[in-house]
Amino acid sequence: MPDPIGLRIAGSGHFLPERVYDNAHFESYLDTSDAWIRERTGIRTRHIAGEGESTATMAVAAARAALEDAKLKPTDLDLIIVATITPEHVFPSTACCVARQLGLTSTPAFDLAATCSGFIYATVTAAHLTRGKTYRTILVIGAETMSRITDYQDRSSCILFGDGAGAVVLNALPDATGPALLHHRIHADGHGHESLWVPAGGSCLPASQMTVNERLHYVKMQGREVFKQAVSTLRQVVEGTLSEAGVTSDDVALLISHQSNIRIMEAARAKLGIPLEKMYVNIDRIGNTSAASIPIALDEARRGGHVRGGDLVMFVAFGAGFTWGSMLWRM
Ligand code: UT7
Repeated sequence: MPDPIGLRIAGSGHFLPERVYDNAHFESYLDTSDAWIRERTGIRTRHIAGEGESTATMAVAAARAALEDAKLKPTDLDLIIVATITPEHVFPSTACCVARQLGLTSTPAFDLAATCSGFIYATVTAAHLTRGKTYRTILVIGAETMSRITDYQDRSSCILFGDGAGAVVLNALPDATGPALLHHRIHADGHGHESLWVPAGGSCLPASQMTVNERLHYVKMQGREVFKQAVSTLRQVVEGTLSEAGVTSDDVALLISHQSNIRIMEAARAKLGIPLEKMYVNIDRIGNTSAASIPIALDEARRGGHVRGGDLVMFVAFGAGFTWGSMLWRM
């Protein structure tokens, strides 16, 4: 049942690499077309990390923008959480790399892997940690370099993904009468893990000549299966969150969904009866950036004047694992 946590988004920021792949890029070497990609996914362009750019460099850029927006210094932070499935290294964590690049030497920092739901998982984790007195100001980042695990010979998946990072600075409030995380849900069902995964590179199937030859370090996806699961799950989790919080979809000022595929987002939105103009969409420009998707959209929405004080904003995501989750915020 809802247990609101008094919390405000003190600042947000995002970073997108300069390099852009448009659909013509894929037409030039794959059996695909701009029309197919736009109709089936809603994507026109995606940003792709260049040389010298990686998950940590993008995360730091987004973090600096969020700190500047919040008018805070890195030393004001009590904790850093980075949601990612494309970490800088196997270890140490990307969060440690970010903390180092921000000049911090003792601030706690850790990564969280929950695929496309990662930012929701990380924000919910951060929110609960603010309930004690120790962690009052927390930097939550979603950052991904999906291009480094994308198989650019697989036309059914490579057209989807892009790179980028988004960040928020969360500030604990003494009570939940103003800005607050009103309600949330996070879930996982590991039975779906082979529908969307990277088979090799972990302890189960470490890197070898065979794994490289077989292209097992890249994303493998059963798109149709994930699609069906995503639509029904997104609708259910939003409906459950709203009804448990005692509000209706009419009360929601803005829906910020993980930007997975415009048809998934549209189907869920329509079933929920949320008007088109209340759903934030940037998938056409940015593609699917996994854990970075929601914080990038949130920052764009805030800076674009789409989020006002007191607004109810619903966040929702579904991804590999499967993992899924929702957050209902009063801004
Ligand atoms: O971030 C969360 C996790 N990921 C997702 O949420 C992604 C979920 N899935 C999807 O977005 C969609 O399933 C895709 C975009 C991946 C594929 O769209 P679809 O409408 O489900 O297509 P499909 O897989 O059912 O394939 C339809 C046809 C097939 O041809 P046949 O068998 O009907 O002859 C595919 O081979 O489209 C073909 N196809 C393509 N054709 C042109 C698949 N990819 C392409 C392509 N260009 N890029």
